[in-house]
Amino acid sequence: MTGFVARPVPSYPTHCATEQYDAMYARSLQDPDGFWLEQAQLLDWVQAPDKGGEWSYDPVVIKWFADGSLNLCYNAVDRHVDAGRGDTTALIFEPDDPASPGRSLTYRELHAEVVQMANALKSLGVTKGERVTIYMPMVIEGVLAMLACARIGAIHSVVFGGFSPEALAGRIVDCGSRFVITADSGLRGSKPIPLKDNVDAALKIDGVDVSGVLVVKHTGADVAMSECRDNWYHELKSDADCPCEEMNAEDPLFILYTSGSTGKPKGVLHTTGGYGVWTATTFNYIFDYQPGEVFWCSADIGWVTGHSYIVYGPLMNGATQIVFEGVPNYPDHGRFWDVIAKHKVNIFYTAPTAIRALMREGDSFVEVHDRSSLRLLGTVGEPINPEAWRWYHEVVGEGRCPIIDTWWQTETGGCMITTLPAAHHMKPGSAGRPFFGVRPQLVGNEGEVLDGATSGNLCITHSWPGQARTVYGDHERFVQTYFSTYHGKYFTGDGCRRDEDGYYWITGRVDDVINVSGHRMGTAEVESALVLHPLVCEAAVVGYPHDIKGQGIYCYVTLNADAEVTDDLVAELRQHVRKEIGPIATPDHIHLTPALPKTRSGKIMRRILRKIAENDYGSLGDTSTLADPSVVESLIEGRQNR
Ligand code: WTA
Repeated sequence: MTGFVARPVPSYPTHCATEQYDAMYARSLQDPDGFWLEQAQLLDWVQAPDKGGEWSYDPVVIKWFADGSLNLCYNAVDRHVDAGRGDTTALIFEPDDPASPGRSLTYRELHAEVVQMANALKSLGVTKGERVTIYMPMVIEGVLAMLACARIGAIHSVVFGGFSPEALAGRIVDCGSRFVITADSGLRGSKPIPLKDNVDAALKIDGVDVSGVLVVKHTGADVAMSECRDNWYHELKSDADCPCEEMNAEDPLFILYTSGSTGKPKGVLHTTGGYGVWTATTFNYIFDYQPGEVFWCSADIGWVTGHSYIVYGPLMNGATQIVFEGVPNYPDHGRFWDVIAKHKVNIFYTAPTAIRALMREGDSFVEVHDRSSLRLLGTVGEPINPEAWRWYHEVVGEGRCPIIDTWWQTETGGCMITTLPAAHHMKPGSAGRPFFGVRPQLVGNEGEVLDGATSGNLCITHSWPGQARTVYGDHERFVQTYFSTYHGKYFTGDGCRRDEDGYYWITGRVDDVINVSGHRMGTAEVESALVLHPLVCEAAVVGYPHDIKGQGIYCYVTLNADAEVTDDLVAELRQHVRKEIGPIATPDHIHLTPALPKTRSGKIMRRILRKIAENDYGSLGDTSTLADPSVVESLIEGRQNR
């Protein structure tokens, strides 16, 4: 493609030494523009930027590299071919069933397939700036779909394949998407996931206006095809030339829906240049990838971890990596370690919930598989308890591999707080130190800045290139959600402790967001789903500690006065939530109660509900402001009986 200068990916020292980290971190704070413009050279630009960050948190306007232009698909794919690395393996597909054939693509083959996908999108009528919804299983075509959008300048909105038709429809409508890419069906732990059927159901819901659906044949499941709307991918793809669209650094790259404490999920918007630089840089330093190594991030492309550390970060760095369709416990609890042995994985990145679930099954599932290839282990998504950390370190990594516990969020684009392998001493349970350019601050409930070793609400005071720019179509909501609690600061929603060595220990969300098996969920979403049931009058949902999932979903439900309570009702309510949101939101407990604890002004006292769900009755705090304090007694009784 014309205009792009192919440059080799710069190589960095094997490990970033402590002194090097200190010097680079100091410089990234003193001269952020100089620092990030230098890091930006990790990418190939059509027009290299001269501008660094141009941002303000009041009013909220965030731009990085705004006079630069580039294309991230070019950076993830084409430039490696142009630089003579076309024969390097890019993707290795490991299917759900280990007996099924896998496949792998070199960067040259990846280029050819991305071009085919991009051409298929063009022939559907997708143009620059269009929103394209991607609802795919964890197969190579999911990655192709994202890269193809980036190639032609379309904005992808990936919806996790486990979400229900209702949840899918809501996301399609919110971003005005007229195109959907899906597959006939997916497979997870040998169970079929009827993706195309779900799309069909979603497209029947009021307000959804989709003109083209692209269907990848994956399992061969029998699906209905609507003549004008639905197209098989294999019939539409073509090898015609398809140049990369030149994108301004601030042109949108993708929308990804994520849960907050109120309302429906928000379409977090990331743009091209800053997100590209952030994911390329964090992958390079934090995962410390070396040519020839095999990287594996076990996330799904439906979550931000899959966006940043399956698609953009690794591919922009020319890495070889695994795309895994399956689950950790199929065909048995040794699947992760089997895949690691089979493909000689060097760097493995997963979630604490998976580690806890596998730890429970005992060491033998791990020990039968050769893990000598492993060099670095990572975790993400929720706090990791020291016991699980130690098991990961000692048993999985045989005590040889550093662990990076990476704290970040959909809104941050990539890792923000983590130890760097070999540069930092590790402390089990602590994410560690801020990455370059990240300025964390702990703030008290009244907004006072807390210094030294202390605990507080985690804010970030200065913008970084990978920061989300807005909530799609609702900038005011972006401002209100992130910049108004502590005026002029980005508030993460997390509580955190900083120790005397300047290490950060994330303690979990301080808002009404819960983290169930590493999946982020708003309690308000589950409540809205419950009250849609005709027999439900009111619902209050809280998280409670769960051994495997980190947090479980506890629902207090009051029924309409005339509702007849049958034995099946609780099962029906759980099923109802699964249908409205998806299986990941299945309630763990449904506690039917005649009343909820409310203040005299009618506000539900969630603090009390959380304590009761936690079985912690000693510290319920002041209940005197309740309209009817006797409600608490009956709730405790109900809790103890389950
Ligand atoms: C939590 C996932 C502790 C945190 C990348 C954050 C973590 C939320 C960690 C974001 C970690 C993520 N230690 N907590 N290493 N990583 N979290 O948007 O509560 O799905 O706010 O992004 O996960 O979840 P999200």
